[in-house]
Amino acid sequence: MFLAKSTKKNLFQSDSINWYKFIRIYRWNPYLNKTPWFSIYPISLKFCGPMVLDALILIKDSQDSTLTFRRSCREGICGSCSMNIDGVNSLACLKPVQNQSSFLTIYPLPHMHVIKDLVPDLTNFYSQYKSIKPWLINSSKPKNEYLQSKQDRMELDGLYECILCACCSASCPSYWWNQNKYLGPAILLQAYRWIADSRDNSTDLRLSFLDNKMRLFRCHTIMNCTKTCPKNLNPGKAIISIKQKLLA
Ligand code: SF4
Ligand code: SF4
Ligand code: FES
Repeated sequence: MFLAKSTKKNLFQSDSINWYKFIRIYRWNPYLNKTPWFSIYPISLKFCGPMVLDALILIKDSQDSTLTFRRSCREGICGSCSMNIDGVNSLACLKPVQNQSSFLTIYPLPHMHVIKDLVPDLTNFYSQYKSIKPWLINSSKPKNEYLQSKQDRMELDGLYECILCACCSASCPSYWWNQNKYLGPAILLQAYRWIADSRDNSTDLRLSFLDNKMRLFRCHTIMNCTKTCPKNLNPGKAIISIKQKLLA
């Protein structure tokens, strides 16, 4: 990338080089007749917040307004800013921009169709989410509300916190090759969240939907999903729990 003379001077003559980082970003624009390319942006960490999302916002504001990425909450809650950072699927708002190298490399989530730059197409992901009926199904009519014991409520810990960022599904080799049929770890964790909910009474229906060699059993327990989850959840364990329920 071409650097203005003044930028070069600032970069290499003031303070320590450790304050500077080169952010290398995968780019693609469907409206340009061009194969994907990398853009490299020099940033000063002195003028940047601590997270990768801060660096992206700084670049978009000060160097390249065409750079496209998703973000909303900047607190690890909305799941919008998932991307592949230095080889690991992560949330840009939770990943520190400081690493061991002068470079930081960012790709969109792997094996997803790209809409533009760092924005993956999640249409299939969300239609798979819809397919598991992610809502309470209970035909009984309680007087006030559906109650649950503290113990039953605790069964949902480690499940309800999932923010549907898709980092896990985009790290799963089975999902890479069969994402039109295999539901993948994020959606299966969500499916188990409703199976494990004592207030829901459609467990048999939910299990019979999942009892399918492609929807569920493409999981080979490699556990990439659990390793990558930025919320420290365990989708691999949720999948094992579904399999155990089917075998019970
Ligand atoms: S399980 Fe973790 S990685 Fe997967 S979608 Fe949920 S929060 Fe994201
Ligand atoms: S444990 Fe299953 S869902 Fe997780 S990465 Fe491996 S194959 Fe994919
Ligand atoms: S911006 Fe919401 S999770 Fe990162």
